[in-house]
Amino acid sequence: MPAHTSNLPAARPRPVYETYLRTDELLSLQKTADERLHPDELTFQVVHQTFELWWKVTVELLAAAADHLAADRPGEAARALRRAVAAQAVVTGAMRQLEFVAPADFLLIRTGLGDGSGGDSPGFRAILRTAPALWDTFAAALEQANLALPDLYAAPRAHAALYDCAEALTDFDETFHLFRAAHLKLAQRNLGLRAIGTGGTPMPQLERTLHDLLFPPLWEARDALLERAHQQSGHPDHPIAPGSVSGHGHP
Ligand code: HEM
Repeated sequence: MPAHTSNLPAARPRPVYETYLRTDELLSLQKTADERLHPDELTFQVVHQTFELWWKVTVELLAAAADHLAADRPGEAARALRRAVAAQAVVTGAMRQLEFVAPADFLLIRTGLGDGSGGDSPGFRAILRTAPALWDTFAAALEQANLALPDLYAAPRAHAALYDCAEALTDFDETFHLFRAAHLKLAQRNLGLRAIGTGGTPMPQLERTLHDLLFPPLWEARDALLERAHQQSGHPDHPIAPGSVSGHGHP
């Protein structure tokens, strides 16, 4: 070793933690302090990036569930679906951080968003795209078992694994709805009740998405069950209000 370098400490190799998780790249994916329009822009970016990561995981879990269903493994499918449901709790929890941002500070951050819109979120769009195909696979599994959905619900223990899938899909629909409801409140507390979003969507239109369902037949099966119970009871009053439920608009 040359004399002039002999007193220098040996260069420390980068820890595996950093190289494996690519922390350098990950931590450079947010604006620097100098670039931010407001210090809370860090929270704004990190929360959205958290959503994209977990929605990426979610889409893979939904696809895995569909594969399991197609291969007649409803128990495994239910497990994948429950994991997808739990992933929504992670992101909805993260969104709470944005409720600490003062509306005046958000308006400053918003000036840097151009016509950016959450509606263009790749993860959100991928979930909307994946849901109908997942439903088709589940419906095919029911058909294979020669079962109509209301019959599965009328006898929940007779086909336990398929029933678990139906309930996990219901949970997923419900948690996705809860994200939308929490997001609407977040948007309203930052922008009020009548704002037009940076993507051009008026707040009342965003509110209407709360009627959208990913898997309408799962909710209609409850109507059918109630109707059956009513018919069996012979009670004269009809228990179902007229009208129909909505599915979601495909992106
Ligand atoms: C300060 C926080 C937020 C505000 C004020 C806000 C506001 C809005 C507004 C006004 C819209 C309507 C579309 C438009 O921009 O014209 C929208 C849509 C959307 N935003 Fe946010 N948002 C916030 C945070 C988030 C976060 C953290 C996510 C997570 C990824 C998100 C995801 C979405 C999605 C997926 C839509 C489309 C909803 C749909 O079409 O059903 N937003 N947001």
